[in-house]
Amino acid sequence: MVAQESMVVVGAGLMGTGIAHACIATGHSTTLVDTRAEALARARLNIEAILDAGVRLGKLAPVARDDALARLRGTTTLDDVPVDAALLIETATEDLAIKQAILRAAEERLGDQAVLATNTSALSITEIAAAARRPERVIGMHFFNPVHKMKLVEIVRGLETDDSTIARVRAWTAALGKTSIEVNEAPGFATSRMSALMGNEAMCMLAEGVARAEDIDTAMRMAFNHPMGPLELGDLTGWDTRLTVLQYLHRTLGEKFRPCPLIIKLVKSGRLGRKVGRGVYAYDATGGRIAGSAIRG
Ligand SMILES: NC(=O)c1ccc[n+]([C@@H]2O[C@H](COP(=O)([O-])OP(=O)(O)OC[C@H]3O[C@@H](n4cnc5c(N)ncnc54)[C@H](O)[C@@H]3O)[C@@H](O)[C@H]2O)c1
Repeated sequence: MVAQESMVVVGAGLMGTGIAHACIATGHSTTLVDTRAEALARARLNIEAILDAGVRLGKLAPVARDDALARLRGTTTLDDVPVDAALLIETATEDLAIKQAILRAAEERLGDQAVLATNTSALSITEIAAAARRPERVIGMHFFNPVHKMKLVEIVRGLETDDSTIARVRAWTAALGKTSIEVNEAPGFATSRMSALMGNEAMCMLAEGVARAEDIDTAMRMAFNHPMGPLELGDLTGWDTRLTVLQYLHRTLGEKFRPCPLIIKLVKSGRLGRKVGRGVYAYDATGGRIAGSAIRG
């Protein structure tokens, strides 16, 4: 494989894990940054599991697995990332202040040509970029979960993002084996806005007792050919992330995005989704859904 440009992924949670895997699997030496060392350790294990599954299925040679892993480094500080990295993808917690602070620190460390992308689900790229000295190099690069299976990257143009940044990010997205679409900045872009509304409505229907969770999910799978129902998808995304996105869309786009009280209740109870083993449904240690475990509204 031809040596590729070096990349930095900031945030080693659900999405950072998947994005770092996509980077190393396509030949990019990649530094994964998280303030929590345990998040880095878990991300490495999860990346190994994705690569091992590829080897088991015959899609990846064992040597390619080892080569990919050798391209991955973890660190708890941005002061330790390669100064010549071409692309930094920020995928930390969905919080404007955190994202802006990462951007500022990244600009201190990286060269002027580096592109700073954010994987925010819904926040304003323009507002995130307002903290940067070079907002023309800031862009939205919105991946989907699980990253190793989902082909789309939504590329979001902020007010100041320049054309060369868009062109470079489209090329990198293709190099990562993904398809890109370009979206002008709007709350929730073209994807989260629709998906948040659907997930919220599904929770309202569950709370009203319209149908059981399993039947709401089966309805969307079998009637409309969605690969996954909206409640299953919320469990996969994480209801904490979902709630933050809905609150933002409610503030920016209005009443139809008011979060369903059942989502707030779920988050308060700690039922955040698959990442903690329970959300609308409960999951066993292998990730399998426990039959009859769905909450009632
Ligand atoms: N979960 C999804 O399905 C999904 C899909 C697309 C986009 N997103 C977006 O991706 C981002 C991350 O989401 P996630 O689901 O991976 O969250 P997560 O909670 O699984 O992971 C977030 C990680 O960021 C780390 N972090 C927090 N502050 C940091 C800092 N200053 N520096 C470095 N690391 C820091 C945390 O320790 C944590 O490990 C969010 O902006 C979210 O909206 C999520």
